[in-house]
Amino acid sequence: MNITIIGAGSTTARALVPMLIAETDWNLHLISSQEAPYQHERITSAVVDVIDRSALKAAVMPHNPDVIINAAALTNVDQCETDKGLAHMFNVNLVEHVVRVARSTDAYVIHLSTDFVFNGEDGPYDEDAVPDPINYYGRTKLAGENVVVSSGVDATILRTNVVYGPPPARMDFVRWIIRAMDTDTDINVVTDQYCNPTYVDDLALAILRCIERRATGLYHIGGADYLSRYQIAERVVAFFKGRPSLVAPTTSDLLDQAARRPLRGGLVPLKAEAKLGIRFRGLESGLVSLRRALFAGRPQ
Ligand SMILES: NC(=O)c1ccc[n+]([C@@H]2O[C@H](COP(=O)([O-])OP(=O)(O)OC[C@H]3O[C@@H](n4cnc5c(N)ncnc54)[C@H](OP(=O)(O)O)[C@@H]3O)[C@@H](O)[C@H]2O)c1
Repeated sequence: MNITIIGAGSTTARALVPMLIAETDWNLHLISSQEAPYQHERITSAVVDVIDRSALKAAVMPHNPDVIINAAALTNVDQCETDKGLAHMFNVNLVEHVVRVARSTDAYVIHLSTDFVFNGEDGPYDEDAVPDPINYYGRTKLAGENVVVSSGVDATILRTNVVYGPPPARMDFVRWIIRAMDTDTDINVVTDQYCNPTYVDDLALAILRCIERRATGLYHIGGADYLSRYQIAERVVAFFKGRPSLVAPTTSDLLDQAARRPLRGGLVPLKAEAKLGIRFRGLESGLVSLRRALFAGRPQ
């Protein structure tokens, strides 16, 4: 089977690529804005400006993909608010290009989305909840979902939230806390934003299972623990035996952020657990995996 991954340098793909190489015999074609850091006989790669429609098409078509995974997106929530054009290009126009090329190659699409499609008044949300985004990131991600749904291509949309994992993936919320511990820097963390943090390997496994089972439709992916950001920070500091006074409570209205955040966000992953056969780990178990990866290093 031929798998094309767009956004191969993303946090998600950094966990997914090693997993697909270790656990399948599939061929991977990696599309990224940077040189792929992988050497393997089943991996080919291309450096592409993915928001250039014809460049993307030229990179994807010759590989005749059975599956296209779209992990590219503008995920910086405040940057989406201040650079709406770029956000629209990555989170909407790129998705239009992906489904167009999927239609011509008859490929099955896996597209990633977010709990930020919801307003955060009454999360965690299941797949039947009605989206109502309150910032531009959420609006563009919802528009991207709608592009996939209305395209008619065989597809699944995986919504996830607060993904964390080891480097070389970009800095995430959990690693930000660990870095503060390493540098002994006091941090203020909000007590009023809730989520269920997702260990990146669980998201990668969900993608693998979707391909194996050719799942279609919408799935919510999230960890077993529903916590405030402040509670997460406290647990991370306790787990890594840091100084408890490092973390001070604050609230969202005191932060000077460009984009509003959904407060009670998070996703109910019961459908994914039942249909994809995955038990999503809680924070403690995710931190055990993270610590192992941080100390052992991992394939890049
Ligand atoms: N991480 C989370 O906590 C989280 C939570 C909810 C939903 N999601 C969704 O899950 C998906 C994957 O997220 P992720 O965290 O794995 O992504 P990520 O680490 O932020 O990476 C996104 C990728 O998109 C491409 N990209 C973004 N901005 C770019 C720019 N200005 N120029 C060129 N390329 C750019 C890059 O791909 P290359 O490096 O390959 O060029 C980048 O690595 C997204 O759809 C996101 O909305 C993530």
